[in-house]
Amino acid sequence: GTLAACSGDSSPTPVLVDPSGSAVAATEKKRRSTGRTRNVTLTAAPAVLDLGGGVTARSWAYGGQAPGKEIRLSVGDTLAAELSNQLPNRTTTSIHWHGLAMRNDMDGVPPVTQQSVRAGAKFTYRFVTDAPGTYFFHPHVGLQLDRGLYAPLIVEDPEEPLAYDDEWVVVLDDWVDGVTGTPDEVLAELRQGMGGMDGMSMKFMLMGAESELLCGDAGDVRYPYHLVNGRVPTDPAVHRGKPGQRVRLRLVNAGGDTAYRVALGGHRMTVTHTDGFPVEHQQVDALLIGMGERYDVLVTLGDGVFPLVALAEGKDATGMALVRTASGGAPRATVRPKELDGRILTASRLRAADDVRLPSRKVDRVHRVELTGGMDKYDWAINGKPYDMADPTASPLTIEEGQRVRLDFVNGTEMWHPMHLHGHTYQLGNTGPRKDTSIVLPRGKLSVVFDADNPGRWMLHCHNAYHAEVGMMALVAYR
Ligand code: C2O
Ligand code: CU
Repeated sequence: GTLAACSGDSSPTPVLVDPSGSAVAATEKKRRSTGRTRNVTLTAAPAVLDLGGGVTARSWAYGGQAPGKEIRLSVGDTLAAELSNQLPNRTTTSIHWHGLAMRNDMDGVPPVTQQSVRAGAKFTYRFVTDAPGTYFFHPHVGLQLDRGLYAPLIVEDPEEPLAYDDEWVVVLDDWVDGVTGTPDEVLAELRQGMGGMDGMSMKFMLMGAESELLCGDAGDVRYPYHLVNGRVPTDPAVHRGKPGQRVRLRLVNAGGDTAYRVALGGHRMTVTHTDGFPVEHQQVDALLIGMGERYDVLVTLGDGVFPLVALAEGKDATGMALVRTASGGAPRATVRPKELDGRILTASRLRAADDVRLPSRKVDRVHRVELTGGMDKYDWAINGKPYDMADPTASPLTIEEGQRVRLDFVNGTEMWHPMHLHGHTYQLGNTGPRKDTSIVLPRGKLSVVFDADNPGRWMLHCHNAYHAEVGMMALVAYR
């Protein structure tokens, strides 16, 4: 099994830190709090979403819109978010605060950190926000993220060192029209009967079965739309500014199955943050953003009407928003600015800013995390073993508080996987950027390090919603 591969793990059933125990509470106390509380209510419910251009979709969303309304607070503020589950068909749900290091019992992963929130029930998430940055939130149940249940979460830094005139949050999403959230029992049943099915049919089947439950039809399970801030490219969201203004873009990829190459026509972008954490600035033409990743960039606006284009990697389709600083006609929905083929930035070319770079020290614990599986069986897993939600603590990757931990991702597959760790922000290599989600290339390797300073039980998984759903997950647990 997996444990045999890691140093020092001899006991078959390690005693794990309790997600709501005293170690977790003690860590929360150490977080610097402003004493202010932001109260919000988030209602997860069916909605008819207006995607622009006359396109509507019956789906699920927070507060009737996708992306849901952003939550914005200051670092150290306490977020008190009451989730009200109004989803149909006795669907359970939760909220995971993607990228934020917070107390473990508020991380929103049923059944690992909490009981799932039943239909008709409420649950209040309450935690101190630990670090400024660009985050988002979504359920951690089945494929609900891919249904439209997501929204940005911005934690501001009152001592923000960047100077800019305006700020736009840009959320990318691939849209499967007609797909619903997850009735888990049905998915489990489906999975059992899937032995001989090829990967694509299995994936479509997962989507289709869900669709049927809510909409009464199997739906069209292609990706007909790539949305930028919830709009189709023929009727895009418009950001207005003045020539010469400096704008901070906070880019979030909330898609379930698509990496985006993003460029703003006629502009270069200066990358300032990855996954919320500052990096040494770099100028680029385009950025590659995997599912779950976030990038902050600065642009100095030109004079005109410019397309902000998100090219779906490997799918040859685009999403678009417009940046307008002058009157005049808009570019076509299919425009492909040349910047998309210019200097493309990936995370491995970045360096962490000095103040967030991890001090070098000896690594206490190494876990090898092999990414396994393939399209023909759709048997995505970690270390050859699909994660079992019914027995979530069966074979954790154990760590201990105070350790410097290294994860060695080894991708034995022909696909790339954006690997996301909950509750921590790791660093790529010795000087790379701080991130919580990173693309591991096909047949590629990636080593990341982090300090074990947030006790609890944390998921480590691929942020392709479909890969995660069939088991490309593991538990990293303190003991
Ligand atoms: Cu956004 Cu467990 O992930
Ligand atoms: Cu994956």
